[in-house]
Amino acid sequence: MPDFLAKLGVEHPIVLAPMAGGTGTPQLVAAVSNAGGLGSWGGAYSTPQQILDAARAIRALTSKPFAINLFAGGYEPERTVDPAPMLALLGDIHRELGLTAPVLPPNPRSPFDDQLAAVIEARPAVFSFTFGLPDADAFARLRRAEIVTCGTATTVEEGKRLAEAGVDSIAAQGEEAGAHRGTFINSFKASMVPMRALTRGLLKETRAPVIASGGIMDGREIAEVLGMGAVAGQLGTAFVACPESGAPQAYKDAILAARSDDTDITRVFSGRPARGLRNRFMAVAREEWILPFGQQNDLTRPMRGEAGKQGKADYLSLWAGRGVAQARSMPAAELVRTLVAEMAATR
Ligand SMILES: Cc1cc2nc3c(=O)[nH]c(=O)nc-3n(C[C@H](O)[C@H](O)[C@H](O)COP(=O)(O)O)c2cc1C
Repeated sequence: MPDFLAKLGVEHPIVLAPMAGGTGTPQLVAAVSNAGGLGSWGGAYSTPQQILDAARAIRALTSKPFAINLFAGGYEPERTVDPAPMLALLGDIHRELGLTAPVLPPNPRSPFDDQLAAVIEARPAVFSFTFGLPDADAFARLRRAEIVTCGTATTVEEGKRLAEAGVDSIAAQGEEAGAHRGTFINSFKASMVPMRALTRGLLKETRAPVIASGGIMDGREIAEVLGMGAVAGQLGTAFVACPESGAPQAYKDAILAARSDDTDITRVFSGRPARGLRNRFMAVAREEWILPFGQQNDLTRPMRGEAGKQGKADYLSLWAGRGVAQARSMPAAELVRTLVAEMAATR
């Protein structure tokens, strides 16, 4: 499978992880693609028009292939959770930040279908997805548009389901990974498989090209997963502190100061388990107060947005993988060049 990326016109086995929510900017995506990696843009929180605009912005900066990523599921039905305790906590934090009182947003429905139509119109080289499995009609439309697909698996069982559905490649998301868990079959707890074991399992039990992700921070680790048979490594946390990343400065500073045991899995920001650096909000928000994914995310958005502006890392979602202690701050193209040199040094 080594020609999977070559067929796409991607020179190096390095994939910039999609990072929805502002961290992954068109500038970051284009910088990685221009440097010979595959840049991915996360469109999960974007409207169809914003997806089209982002694709245009990326194309203005690069003629190289890139990926667009969406959440293919994850939205939950209304639950009978009393919103009062979460609203009370956020009320205190809003006051501290100088914001007006929080308002309970409606529980949103999945925007996936409308977003996918925009992705198909934008025609990126690759469409990657997480949190689920699109239906057969979606795959047929993507195939007709000649868009290569990449589905996220956190277990071998999920990888087999993706392969049966006809995905062109699988992103193996190990438990080390920063941000949301892509899990869509079994419990989140049972799906915390280390990146190396998951990559090996997927390579053994599916025939799809596997892109290993979770905790990969340097070229030596990319060479290691290629040695196992993966076609590439997908790195998120490694790129968060790059100048082209849209992460607030307080988030970049926290990443660069973090130690390897500073991360934990939390649901408090969005309602869905995700790995990030421990901070005050994770300590004070209780599990039983959390609203469904989507609604909880919308409810905490004003807090996160204002905290970013005020440089308060305590109220930001500081998504980071277990490799965070190795994070470096350098322009994305230089990071890609460094990763390539580190890979070469292992030969
Ligand atoms: C800030 C951030 C945002 C992320 N957003 C997305 C996303 O929108 N879609 C997605 O499939 N994965 C997303 N991920 C997860 C990555 O695809 C990948 O699993 C993870 O970054 C790999 O672990 P690492 O961060 O240790 O490199 C995100 C990761 C980070 C760090």
